[in-house]
Amino acid sequence: MTQTPEWWRTAVIYQIYPRSFRDLSGDGYGDLPGVIDRLDYLRDLGVDAVWLSPFYRSPMADAGYDVADYRAVDPMFGETADAHRLIEEAHARGLKVIFDLVPNHTSDEHAWFQAALAAKPGSPERDRYMFRDGKGADGELPPNNWTSVFGGPAWTRLTGADGTPEQWYLHLFDVKQPDLNWDSPVVRSEFEDILRHWLDAGVDGFRIDVAHGLVKAEGLPDVDHDTLMLSSDSGPQWDQDGVHEIYRSWHRVLADYDGDRALVAEAWVHSDRLPLYVRRDEMHQAFNFDFLTCPWDADAYRDVITSSLEANDAVGAPTTWVLSNHDVLRHRSRLGREDTGNRFGIGPDDEQPDHELGLARATAATLMMLALPGSAYVYQGEELGLPDHTTLPHEYRQDPTWERSDHEQVGRDGCRVPLPWTADAPGLGFSPTGETWLPQPESYRDLAADQQVDDPDSVWSLYHAALAERRARGLGAGSLEWIEGYGDGVVAFRNGDVVCIANISGPEIHLPDDASVLLCTGPRDGVLTANRTVWLAQQ
Ligand code: NOJ
Repeated sequence: MTQTPEWWRTAVIYQIYPRSFRDLSGDGYGDLPGVIDRLDYLRDLGVDAVWLSPFYRSPMADAGYDVADYRAVDPMFGETADAHRLIEEAHARGLKVIFDLVPNHTSDEHAWFQAALAAKPGSPERDRYMFRDGKGADGELPPNNWTSVFGGPAWTRLTGADGTPEQWYLHLFDVKQPDLNWDSPVVRSEFEDILRHWLDAGVDGFRIDVAHGLVKAEGLPDVDHDTLMLSSDSGPQWDQDGVHEIYRSWHRVLADYDGDRALVAEAWVHSDRLPLYVRRDEMHQAFNFDFLTCPWDADAYRDVITSSLEANDAVGAPTTWVLSNHDVLRHRSRLGREDTGNRFGIGPDDEQPDHELGLARATAATLMMLALPGSAYVYQGEELGLPDHTTLPHEYRQDPTWERSDHEQVGRDGCRVPLPWTADAPGLGFSPTGETWLPQPESYRDLAADQQVDDPDSVWSLYHAALAERRARGLGAGSLEWIEGYGDGVVAFRNGDVVCIANISGPEIHLPDDASVLLCTGPRDGVLTANRTVWLAQQ
C-alpha cells in the first residue's frame, strides 16, 4: 500500500498578515471576518494552506507579536469565535490552517507579567520571565550588554511603587515584549496547553516565532557585537541546544492528534544548524531564509538550492522556499535594486527600486521557486506583484524598529500595507469605509485584484497557472536534477516532466522550435532574455 505523503511536505502556504489583508468592520484594520470573506479567492488562486500572523489579544506594540492572551482574538481582528469559524470555513474549501505561536516572549500586558511586576524578586511569578539584579554598586547597570533586535538595550529596569529602582527584565525585542524563562516547567506546560487548545479547535499547524531564541546560554554572558535584525546571528541569545528538547516535546503533543499537524520553525540560524530543527522527532518544516536572502545571482541560487535540498534530505524533512514575508522588503522591490540582498524595508531617502526590473525578476524568481520540490510560501499580495511602499512618509511608521533605532532603520511597515482589492473603490476596496491603517502607494491601483483575476497576462494569472501546473504535475513531491550547458547566469533544472530555465543574468537563450512552453514570464516569443523564467514540458 502506498502512503500519501503528509500535506506539509508539498504544500504551497499563503501567508496572511491579518491587519492588512481585508477589513470588514470598516476601522481600517484587517480582521478575521475579512479573511473568511476572501477564502474563496485563496482557494481559486490555488494554494493549499494559509498561515495567519498573530491575531490574539495584544496591545499591538509589535503588530500582535506581543501577545497578552494566547487563546483570545483581539477585538481589532474580531471575536474569538471568528478564529474557530475561520478554521471551519477554510477546511470546507480544502485549505489547511496554520496559526502563529509566539513563545519567546509575551506582551507586558499578559496576566503573567502583570503578576510578576506585583510580586517580589525570587517569587514564582518572576521566575516565569528573565528577571535579574543589575550590576554595579546599586544594581544600576544592566545584567549584561545584550541589545534588542529592534535597537537599544535588551534590558529594562523596573521601578518599585515607592519609586525605588528594582530588578531588570530581558526583552530581546521591544520593551513591551518580556522574554519568558524556558527553564521554568510552568512555562513549558502552559505552552503545551496552548498548543492543545488550538489543536482541539482543528488547526493544522503552527508557525513558531523566533524558534531559535527560547533558551539562552547559561549565565547570560556578554556578547561582542550588537544583536542584528533577523540575521543568522550567533551568540548566547540564539540557537542554544536546549531549544530542541522543547520541540521534541511539542512534536509529541502534535502526534497525539490525527491529520498530520505540523510545526514550522522561524529560525534565523546558520544553514548547517537549521536541519537540527527539522529532525524526525522535532518540527516538520523550517523557513528557508537562505533562499529568501539570496541575491540575484545564478551561482548563488544554485548553491542555496543544492545545499538546502541536501541538508533537509539528510534529516528526511521537506525543503521550503520563500521569497517574501511581513518582515522583509517584498521581493519585487528587493530585486529591483542594485543590492539585491536582503533588506528590512527601505524609506524615501534610500536608493529606490526600478519597479519594472523588480517585477520581471520577482516573477522569474517565483516561477523558479514554484518549480522546486518541497513546500513553498507565498506572502499576501505577491500574487498581485505588489512592491513595498518604499516612500511611506515617516509619520505613518508603526514598526517599533523605527523609534528604537533612533530612526536609523525605517522598519517593516512598507511590506505591510493594506491589500488593494478594487481599483476604483476608496482605499482600493480594502475596507468598506475606505479606511486603511497605512496609506497605499499610487502604484497599487493598477495592481488591484479586480484588475488581475480575469486578465490572462496578469501576475495573478501567472501565479494561478503555476500553482495549477505544480499541483497537476506533482512538482512538490518531485525531485531536482540540474541541467548543465546553458552557461553562466542561468539556473536550469528538471523536476518530473517539467524543465525550468531561469535566465538570471545570462545572454539570451533561443528555445528550440519544438519546445513546448508551459509557462513563462515575459513574452512567449521563443527567446529567453535575462531576468525571465520558462517552464517547458519534457517531450
Ligand atoms: C519574528 C516576527 O516575524 C516579527 O514580525 C516579530 O517582530 C519578531 N519575531 C518578534 O516576535
